[in-house]
Amino acid sequence: MSIEYCVNTRINGKELTEVFKSVGWNKDEKVIVQAFENSFFVLAYNKEELIGFARAISDGYFYTGIYDVVVRPPFQGKGIAKRMMKILLKEFNGTYFFLTYTDGNREFYEKCGFKENDQALWIPK
Ligand SMILES: CC(C)(COP(=O)(O)OP(=O)(O)OC[C@H]1O[C@@H](n2cnc3c(N)ncnc32)[C@H](O)[C@@H]1OP(=O)(O)O)[C@@H](O)C(=O)NCCC(=O)NCCS
Repeated sequence: MSIEYCVNTRINGKELTEVFKSVGWNKDEKVIVQAFENSFFVLAYNKEELIGFARAISDGYFYTGIYDVVVRPPFQGKGIAKRMMKILLKEFNGTYFFLTYTDGNREFYEKCGFKENDQALWIPK
């Protein structure tokens, strides 16, 4: 299987929301398109089909947040998310990276190099 990875290319809101739906997340199409347009993003394609994405927001010098790392279930377990993470980590190499994770995904991020930090706080929505 040959997966193509594209960075900051054309986005299609319908395709994005379908990929979110495939993992059980319902997102408002307009809002998610805005969020991607305000981010640095990687899209993964199997032929013409969008099968995953990951995005980051960075100041380019100090800090980078990682968000919305998603791969359609039939394509999971093939190294696709790790490859997208590598692209983000390389792009913003030298900055501090931070993220939050949902249940069951901590180990995935550890495999991408993330370590626990007990000096982080957040305001839950
Ligand atoms: C989490 C997710 C993005 C991983 O995508 P993926 O393409 O299957 O991950 P990869 O195949 O690149 O996995 C890379 C490594 O992490 C491991 N891994 C992946 N998901 C894991 C999980 N949930 N728990 C433990 N290990 C995991 C893989 O086994 C692999 O290990 P290896 O390098 O030793 O072989 C995918 O399962 C997904 O889209 N989940 C639903 C959306 C979601 O919850 N996203 C994360 C939000 S915090």
